[in-house]
Amino acid sequence: MVEVNLVGLGIGAALTLTAVALHLSKGTGWTSTTDISQEVLERRAESVPETDFPEPMNRAIGAGGGGAVAAGAVAGEEEGAELEGGEAAEESGPWDVPDDEAETFEIEFTKEGDTIEVAENETVLEAGEDAGWDMPYACRQGQCVSCAGQITSGGNAEDYVVHDDQQMLDDNELGDGYTLTCVAYPKDDFTIETGEAP
Ligand code: FES
Repeated sequence: MVEVNLVGLGIGAALTLTAVALHLSKGTGWTSTTDISQEVLERRAESVPETDFPEPMNRAIGAGGGGAVAAGAVAGEEEGAELEGGEAAEESGPWDVPDDEAETFEIEFTKEGDTIEVAENETVLEAGEDAGWDMPYACRQGQCVSCAGQITSGGNAEDYVVHDDQQMLDDNELGDGYTLTCVAYPKDDFTIETGEAP
């Protein structure tokens, strides 16, 4: 009996000492992980390309809270730029004339075999399409020659049409009467051969 009790007491004492030791020990010294959210946001801001227009949200995050102000500043600059450069960027021309004030001219389409009235605020291409003809075109922006035609009334094409930023015909070709119908607004009566490129 005495032996058994001694063994039990020994085990009990050992367990108690272990519990006390564990209680008093410092453990593994857990500390919270470092907060890298700000660092991540800054890295993301660097990876976002700069734009010259205000963007929603992402620029504001990227600049660490100051972005909202920066975006507002950009917006302000943009507005100013638009006000200053507005007139220069948007060149006015016959295309701006309201329909009820637009003058009309008679254009004879030789190949189509008809003469139609075309308003000064309408392109030769649009007028031909409105007449139901299958007119050639591609870019509709004066940047190819798919819609080209030749004004055969004699003289320079620009005596008869105003081109809205055509970029393909040189002075000689214009002098031979060539025009890009997609950006050509009439300013006089004339005869044209469609589908004729220089
Ligand atoms: S369609 Fe391209 S220049 Fe007219």
